[in-house]
Amino acid sequence: MASQPYPYFLQRNSGDLLKKIMDDVTNYAGGVLLPLLDTIARVLTSVLLLATLFLVQPVIAISAAVILGGFYAVTFQLLTRKRREVDENLKTHVTGSFREAHQMLAGIKPVKVHRAEEHFLARFAGHSAIMARMFARTPVFANSARYFVEPLAFGGLVVAVLLLVARGRDFSDILPNLGVMALAGYRLLPSLQLLYAQVTQVSSMRHAVDEVYDEFVAAETDKSVSRVISTEPVTSARPFSWDNAITLCDVSYRYPGVSRSAVERLSLIIPKNSSLGVIGPTGSGKSTLVDLLLGLYLPTAGDILIDGQLLTPALVPSWQASVGYVPQDIFLIDDTIARNVAFGLPDEKIDPVRLREACSMAQILDFIEADLRNGFETKVGERGIRLSGGQRQRIGLARALYHRPSLLILDEATSALDVATEAKLLEALLSLADKLTMVVAAHRLSAVDNCDQVFDLGNEIPAVV
Ligand SMILES: Nc1ncnc2c1ncn2[C@@H]1O[C@H](COP(=O)(O)OP(=O)(O)OP(=O)(O)O)[C@@H](O)[C@H]1O
Ligand SMILES: [Mg+2]
Repeated sequence: MASQPYPYFLQRNSGDLLKKIMDDVTNYAGGVLLPLLDTIARVLTSVLLLATLFLVQPVIAISAAVILGGFYAVTFQLLTRKRREVDENLKTHVTGSFREAHQMLAGIKPVKVHRAEEHFLARFAGHSAIMARMFARTPVFANSARYFVEPLAFGGLVVAVLLLVARGRDFSDILPNLGVMALAGYRLLPSLQLLYAQVTQVSSMRHAVDEVYDEFVAAETDKSVSRVISTEPVTSARPFSWDNAITLCDVSYRYPGVSRSAVERLSLIIPKNSSLGVIGPTGSGKSTLVDLLLGLYLPTAGDILIDGQLLTPALVPSWQASVGYVPQDIFLIDDTIARNVAFGLPDEKIDPVRLREACSMAQILDFIEADLRNGFETKVGERGIRLSGGQRQRIGLARALYHRPSLLILDEATSALDVATEAKLLEALLSLADKLTMVVAAHRLSAVDNCDQVFDLGNEIPAVV
């Protein structure tokens, strides 16, 4: 799942994905694969027992197989609709409960402020109540046949004895046969019962099989996955080295299922070591343009060229390794500042010199070293909840700079800073101009003031400042 391209995740709810990872895969293994293995063992045992019985009493063995097998088959058939109902309900309501819990926890601040706890809890409770009812039904289905089968088998044994006596067999002659039949029944019934229970369980857990299977099918057929960017395992690629320019030729991008293009026939040249400011009103396509430059989406029309080389799916991993990106909403992990800056690196690979250098450039070093008792080892809380918006943005910037990118992309990355800090930061970045190409997307003109080129997506006129 993690190796899927970015558009895949735009079409899906993260609560639903969480359920697939945590619940369906576990159910698939524990509720389907293991019972299936057990089923094979049960089938073998039952067949062997019936074969033994067949050698001793063929008529009785065949009658037992037909009557018991038929009984289980009819019961299974009669309960099909009910089982399907359980299966459908589990699929809907387990997904629903994951989604509600995940959304409430992820948005706990607005949930609290808008006093929406009751609303989310009620929705969660609705799903839970149905789930509980469905889970309670499965064992009832699995055991229902047993209460009828046991008297049936015992009655069958009595009938068999009576038949043999009626045929004029001597009782001392019947007794050994009776022993074999009783022994076979004693072993056969629990095996058949378990077999039935396993098959019932597997058929009530079909949704887990479907969900896991659907993921594989989606990878082949889904629109958001159709122009697959990379099916390779996620590995760290070598940064792509380039010397001249990034060129956009008539680039358009339309989100799946949307009629209007977010970016329409855009042509631009970004020379190496220059800076480009992208402005435009909200919704004009700044973030989309940035995502295209990052290779997160492939243009629906037109080309992006780096030094004349087409940005293809094969090039994307190494291209991304040479780009530093600060998104509009910074995502911080619930971990230390050091691990947030050197995002994705194991501790032994984190370079303290680079760490300080990146933080200093991002104007956050003083805060980390002077104001935080644990310095780089300070934990920032989930999504950086213990930091201010501006501090989070600067940690995001330090993260982008840590890998010494050749292209730095800032998407509204200074919007939460006061004007003075913003100016200081941009000045520090632009002073690196001979080492760094920059693309700055912003609403505020102050953020793009000193850029070599400014492109206004509102008017679509490239303007040289
Ligand atoms: N995943 C998506 N699916 C469908 N439409 C989208 C998606 N993301 C963005 N859009 C649409 O594309 C258009 C451009 O969005 P984009 O985020 O690029 O604007 P922006 O200029 O960055 O805006 P802002 O200044 O508010 O950040 C908007 O009309 C938006 O509704
Ligand atoms: Mg944006």
